Amino acid sequence: MNNLPPSNPLRHVDEWDDYVASRYQEGKAASDFRKYDPQAHPGVAEFYQLNHAHQTVAFVQGKKQQYLAFEKGKKSIWGAAEFLNVLVDDSDPDTDVSQIEHLMQTSEAIRKDGHPRWFVLTGFLHDLGKVLCLYNEPQWAVVGDTFPVGCAYSDQIVYHEYFAMNPDSKVPDYQTLYGIYEPNCGLDKVHLSWGHDEYIYHVVKNYLPEEAHYMLRYHSFYPAHRHGAYQHLMSKHDEKMFEWVRKFNPYDLYSKGAARPNVLELKPYYEDLFAEFFPAQLAW
Ligand SMILES: [Fe+2]
Ligand SMILES: [Fe+2]
Repeated sequence: MNNLPPSNPLRHVDEWDDYVASRYQEGKAASDFRKYDPQAHPGVAEFYQLNHAHQTVAFVQGKKQQYLAFEKGKKSIWGAAEFLNVLVDDSDPDTDVSQIEHLMQTSEAIRKDGHPRWFVLTGFLHDLGKVLCLYNEPQWAVVGDTFPVGCAYSDQIVYHEYFAMNPDSKVPDYQTLYGIYEPNCGLDKVHLSWGHDEYIYHVVKNYLPEEAHYMLRYHSFYPAHRHGAYQHLMSKHDEKMFEWVRKFNPYDLYSKGAARPNVLELKPYYEDLFAEFFPAQLAW
């Protein structure tokens, strides 16, 4: 692959989240979603070049084999959150909230709105898959809008033009509307680009209701949950369940401006919540 930028062009993986939040800020027209402020997010275009160039069918299958064997050791939920907290933002250590604070801002906003405990818990869990960064995965294999591999790329995917650099774009079988899938086969059968969503979904899925599965697994699938793409692969059931993905999304996007949560004060509530749904340790 020639002329690609260095492997980690974002100052921090959270710069991708900030960029997405700016893309969907209130008052911005849906058609403006591709425009961004290069000054505010200088590495974003380079990041998408890498993401779109490298997320192939073979890459996704390889990562699933590697990580869904859960050979990274056992950890509690709180242990994983503390581990994730190692991921500090070097560029702005004073003003950026820590990883645990972002998780709690999301879950606390859900709690304030009176949602059930599993929903609050899902808010806390949603970005724990970013521990992939600490397993030395490059940014483009941890964050980014997710999209199906093995079929035609929707033009609703941001920086769609960069798919020209993906080797799969030269594989005719992968470039028809349905590609390697059957019409309306259901998203469970579809391989999305690899990242933190798919990983956390698999780590926790046995302990949570199906609504939570959808929220975790598809929270970065913006082409579908924001732009309505890929309905030809979704089942009726997926479409119904996406209501929950959309219900979750504002808490992810817009809770960052909330007051910084008092992590130590809140910890006992969360320890109780984890104990209600999970065993003491999970395989990661
Ligand atoms: Fe996320
Ligand atoms: Fe998030």
